[in-house]
Order: sequence, then structure tokens, then C-alpha cells
Amino acid sequence: MVDALGVAVVGFGWMGRVHTQAYARVRHHYPQLALRPELITVAEEVPGRAEEAAAQFGFASTARDWREVAADPRVRAVSITAPNFLHREIGVAMAEAGKHIWIEKPVGLGPGDARAVADAVAGAGVQGAVGFNYRNAPAVEAARDLIASGEIGRVTHVRIRLFSDYAAHPEGALTWRYERERGGSGVLGDLASHGADLARFLLGDIAALTADTAIFLPERARPAGATAGHSRATGGELGPVENEDYVSCLLRFASGARGVLEACRVSVGEQNNYGFEVHGTEGAVFWDFRRMNELGVSRGAGYQDQPVSTVHVGPGQGEFGAFQPGAGNAMGYDDLKVIEAYRFLRSVAEGVAYGATTADAVRSAVVLDAMARSAESGAWVGVGVAS
Ligand SMILES: NC(=O)c1ccc[n+]([C@@H]2O[C@H](COP(=O)([O-])OP(=O)(O)OC[C@H]3O[C@@H](n4cnc5c(N)ncnc54)[C@H](O)[C@@H]3O)[C@@H](O)[C@H]2O)c1
Repeated sequence: MVDALGVAVVGFGWMGRVHTQAYARVRHHYPQLALRPELITVAEEVPGRAEEAAAQFGFASTARDWREVAADPRVRAVSITAPNFLHREIGVAMAEAGKHIWIEKPVGLGPGDARAVADAVAGAGVQGAVGFNYRNAPAVEAARDLIASGEIGRVTHVRIRLFSDYAAHPEGALTWRYERERGGSGVLGDLASHGADLARFLLGDIAALTADTAIFLPERARPAGATAGHSRATGGELGPVENEDYVSCLLRFASGARGVLEACRVSVGEQNNYGFEVHGTEGAVFWDFRRMNELGVSRGAGYQDQPVSTVHVGPGQGEFGAFQPGAGNAMGYDDLKVIEAYRFLRSVAEGVAYGATTADAVRSAVVLDAMARSAESGAWVGVGVAS
């Protein structure tokens, strides 16, 4: 028996569009889902943007103010895809109104915001899914299983990298992302949040860290009008970039493993160069987001000169089988969001959390906060395990 679930999207920029497309596609890939998402309403503050979204995707109504969504009894689940500074207010309000939420990372401006949303979700007894999409990649899940099985021995060290050029253009607009008040941190929240989640997903808790941050492009042009994603603002009046372009961080895991996490948003020549290298006493596993379904795996008893093989994940590994019939067929970024939608809707249907939750967002936010504090003090910082 398939029930309809009224869903809404708040903020129709890049992520709002991707969440909407995921709702539209999710039952194509997961016909067994007990819920059928029904696009009830889309809320946007930019005039015309919600109406365009409704015309394209078939939302039954539009709203200018997200509070209308909170008060709408037809809506039972909400995608919160607005800028970071709104996550706390909207997330708490939606949960308190009894709506399940699928909220984008990093969930607010810092650990206080993430905790407030997680507490509201727990208090209301609703589901709280979070957009840590990279852990949904079948190859990442396969890597986690491989590491947990002991096939690469005891993990000794890891490198996690998230390099991008999305902010590298000198005419890139001074959007909410570069302001403390609306974006919070810079590349920490934007990219390192994914890295912190991946680190924990693969290797468990981080115990301590030391970090360094830098702003490489200190001024950007103010946009003349509404922006979405990474717009340009050629010729606009210059304003200050308030948060970091770059972070490098040494990690000590609770397991004793060591790590390096590096993230940058202004790396010319790097397009979504996200990935990891995990090394163990008997092998290693390598992943690059741009070759999302491949793992480099070195295992055996060779130690020195031990070869690395390319393994293509296939049906039976993670959610690959919901998308392609055989290994070697490509999946894309948006498919990771379809997996996220599936896990969110399944959580709602069964009352059990599948996939990343607001509790995971708190863990990631605590790590990012420790990085920011370490970058300020220059010291190693202990990472308390959050509730
Ligand atoms: N998981 C990922 O890979 C990923 C990728 C990009 C962004 N994100 C996250 O998604 C969120 C949105 O990022 P984006 O790139 O889509 O940004 P964006 O700027 O493209 O979109 C944000 C949208 O929210 C709208 N908005 C602003 N204030 C609003 C309000 N009060 N009510 C309704 N709508 C409002 C804006 O007009 C805009 O259309 C951020 O938290 C970001 O960190 C996640």
C-alpha cells in the first residue's frame, strides 16, 4: 500500500532544484517505497523563482514566506535548502510543527545551531535527514565495509581532500557564502563539513586536531540582484570576504589512526577534486568523486610493491543496483541525492533513521568548530564527542 506524503521545498537555488528532482525520481529507482512524495509547495524569497519551480516541477502551490509552509497541514516533510543562516530557525520551526525535515549541510552556522535543530527533531519525534551526500556513494560504502572487514589491516593514516574552483574566479559574486552572518564559516562549512562526515563515516570519531586557515581572495564584487549557486558580479562594488577560502588540518582519530584533511574553494585547476586515501598495515583504498564508482584497492600479503587494482562497484554494493544493472555503468551526483531522498522517505515510512541525520551534522559541526578554534590559537584541540 503506497501513501502520499506531502512535501515542500524551502529555498529554490541549486540544492532546492536537486532535492525536487530527487523527489520526482525517487520512485523510479525505488518502487518498493511505501510513500509517494507529492510536491505541495515551494517557498522562495526571490520574486518569480517559486512560480517558475512550480511550473516546471508541478508543485501545487507557492509561498513567499517559509512560515506558510510550517502552517500548511498538507505538508508533512520539508526540504530545507535555504542558506546556512536560516537552517536553525526554519529547521526548528518545521520540526516543532511536526514536519519531517531533510536539511542541507552544514545545518546552521555552528554546533549550537546544529544541536538546536537536532534537539527539535528528537523532541518532536520526526525524522531529520542531512545532505551529506558523498557517504551515499556505493563505492564509499564499499570502502567502509572493506576497511571494517580488516582487509587493509589496521588503519594507520588517511588523507581526505576537497578541492574546488567554484570560488576561484575573481569576479565571483560576494554572495551569502562569504559573509559570517549568513554563511558562517567558509570552506569549512561548505566542503570540510563533507570531509569531517566522511572521516567519521569511514574511520570513527576524531579525538583531536590542529588546523590552519587562510583567505586568498580577500575581496569580491557585490551582486546587483538575486543570486543562485556561484554567480558572477562583474564590475560590482568590492566588499570583504569574511570567511576562509582554505583549511588544512591534522587529525588524530580515537582509534589512534592519523589523518590530513585539506579543503579549498579557490583552487584553480581543481574541479570537484574530492576523495580520500586510507592506508592500513596491509593495504590501502583510494576514492575520487569524479570516478565515483571506482575504488583503487591494494590488498594481499605483499607489503612492498603490492599492486593497486581498480574495482568497479556493482549491484549488491551500496545502492548501485537501484540505478544500473551492471558494474561500469556511470552514476552521477544527482543520483546521490536520489539515494538520500530514498533513505529520508524510508525513515519517515518506518520511523527508523536511515542515512545521515541531524545527529551526524552535530558531530561534523563540532569538528569544524574545533578546526576554527585551532586555526585561531595555533594549538591542538580536543574534539569532545557530541551527544
Ligand atoms: N550537499 C551538497 O553537496 C551541497 C551543495 C551545495 C550547497 N549545499 C547546501 O545547500 C544550501 C543551499 O545552497 P545552494 O547552493 O542551493 O544556495 P543557493 O544560493 O543556490 O540557493 C539558496 C536559495 O534560497 C533562497 N532563499 C534565501 N532566503 C530565503 C528565505 N528566507 N525563504 C526562502 N528562500 C530563501 C535564495 O533565494 C536561493 O534561491 C546551503 O546550506 C549549502 O551549504 C549542499
